[in-house]
Amino acid sequence: MALLQIRQYGDEILKKKAREVTAFDSKLHLLLDDMWDTLKEHDALGLAAPQVGVLRRAVIILMDDGEPYELINPVIVEESGRETMNEACLSVPNKQGDVERAAFIKVEALDRFGVPFTLDADDVLATGICHEIDHLDGILFLDRAFAVQDCTPEDKENRKAIKEKRRAEAKKKRNK
Ligand code: CO
Repeated sequence: MALLQIRQYGDEILKKKAREVTAFDSKLHLLLDDMWDTLKEHDALGLAAPQVGVLRRAVIILMDDGEPYELINPVIVEESGRETMNEACLSVPNKQGDVERAAFIKVEALDRFGVPFTLDADDVLATGICHEIDHLDGILFLDRAFAVQDCTPEDKENRKAIKEKRRAEAKKKRNK
């Protein structure tokens, strides 16, 4: 297990465009495994490779129901609807903001072995994927948010409470 350092707002690497992944080898797998350790350590929803200093097009997302997603070279091929959600980011600590994004997306991506797949996403997953793909293009949610606020300790507690509620609901569903 290895925890990676999260690049913070102001770091130039967060503004750069990441290159496509071309080698689906043990080096990529190690990067992804370390990204998973790092995401779980911070109890985050998603993480993109540039946030740990690697300018490659790889993102991971862990839904509150425990469903993990790994997307290499992801491309949004269809989108529809608009939805506004309050977002936060490991690279922008103590800030939150409302961002309007597509409500539904279809994504084409590769898995860690280079096998292509298509994914339909809506709601939190769609927002998460859009947020993470933005990182691959050097864009932060701050660049899109129409209202940015400081994250108070109460906000953090609320986020945690919502996460725990979703987790408990998912667990209940699985046990049925
Ligand atoms: Co982020």
